[in-house]
Amino acid sequence: MRVLILGGDGFIGSHLRDNHLNKGDTVSIVDKDCFRSSKYRNYNFVQHKIVQSDITLKYIIMTNKPDLIYNCVAIANPSYYVSNPIDTFDLDFTLNYDIIQVVSEFKIPLIHFSTSEVYGKKDDNEPLNEDTSNLVLGPSTKTRWIYATSKILLEQLLISLSNRNKIECVILRPFNFIGHDIDWIPSLSKCDKFWKPRIYSCFMDNLMSGKPLKVVNPGTQTRSYTHINDAVSAIDSILSNWKMCKNKILNIGNPNNETTIINLANMMIELMNEISNTNIKYDIEKIDGDTFYGPGYDDSPKRLANIDKLRNLTNWNPTINLRDTFKKSMKLTIDKFSKK
Ligand code: UGA
Repeated sequence: MRVLILGGDGFIGSHLRDNHLNKGDTVSIVDKDCFRSSKYRNYNFVQHKIVQSDITLKYIIMTNKPDLIYNCVAIANPSYYVSNPIDTFDLDFTLNYDIIQVVSEFKIPLIHFSTSEVYGKKDDNEPLNEDTSNLVLGPSTKTRWIYATSKILLEQLLISLSNRNKIECVILRPFNFIGHDIDWIPSLSKCDKFWKPRIYSCFMDNLMSGKPLKVVNPGTQTRSYTHINDAVSAIDSILSNWKMCKNKILNIGNPNNETTIINLANMMIELMNEISNTNIKYDIEKIDGDTFYGPGYDDSPKRLANIDKLRNLTNWNPTINLRDTFKKSMKLTIDKFSKK
C-alpha cells in the first residue's frame, strides 16, 4: 500500500508513518517541519509549507500515486488558538479547505483528523456521541473556540462532499492521544515557540525542573487519555474495515481513562517519584485560565468519548490504562533528557 501523510512530521502523523513502514508500506510525507523525521529515512519526505491553491501538492499526489491520504495538518494547542486566533483559522480551516478540494479531485480515500474539541462545553454526563451529541461551543468572545469552529466547518464540508460521492473519507475525532513526543518540553527543548504545549508537556516541564504544577481552575474538568499505540491500532482497524467505516465520523478514545486534571497532576507527581525512585514533594498551584493562557480562554468541562460506533464497526478496543499510558510516556521523556 502507498500512503501519503500530510502533516506527517507531527505527533500523530509520525506514529502513523512508523506503523505503515513496519507493515512494509510505501510512505510519503509532506510537512513544513522536520522535528520528528529521521535523516536516514526509508520514506519520501518533502519539506514543504503547503499553501493555498498549491500546485506542489497536486504534483506530489500525481507522482506518488497514493492509495490513501492522511490529513493531519493542524496546530492543536489551545494556547495557540487563544494567542493566534487568525492564524489558527488560516491553518485549521482555510488551508485545510484547499487540501480537501485538491484531494477530492483525485478521488483517493482520505483519513481526515478532526478533533474531540468540537464537542466543546457539553457536560451532561452522557459520553459524547458522533451522531447524537450536540456541539456546544462557548461565546465568540472566547477565541479558544476558533479551532473547534474551523474543524466543524471542515466536517460539514467533508460530509457534504461524501454525500455527493465527491470524496471517500473517514473523519476522526481523537480524544486526547498521549505519547512522550506529543509536544516539546519548554525549558529543556531547543524551541522558540511563544505558545504553551498541552498538559502532558507542561506538567513534565514542571516536574523535571522542580517547579509547581499549575492546574487551571477549577481542576475538576476531565479528559480521557488514549495512548498513541491504542490510537494507531484503532486506525489500523478502520483500514481493515474500510467499507464499513467510510464516510463516517468516528470517535477514537479510551473512556476507561477519564480523569480530572487535579487527579492527573497528583498521579503524574506519584509516577515521577516512582520512576525516579525519589520522594520529592511537588507543589500544585491553582490558576485562572485567563492568567495562564491569556484572555479568550475557555474550557471543556468534560470530554468523555462514546466509542460504541467504532467498536461495533471494527471490534477495536483500547487496551492501555491511564496509569500505564502516563508511566510509559513519562519514562521515555525522562530517558530522552537524561541522555542529553
Ligand atoms: C487540546 C486540543 O484543543 C484538542 O483539539 C485536542 O484534541 C486535544 O488537546 C488533544 O490533545 O487531543 P485540551 O485537552 O483542552 O485540548 O488541551 P490541554 O492543553 O492538554 O488541556 C487539558 C486541560 O488541562 C485543560 O483544562 C487545561 O486548562 C488544563 N491545563 C493545561 C492545566 O491545568 N495545566 C497546564 O499546565 C496545562
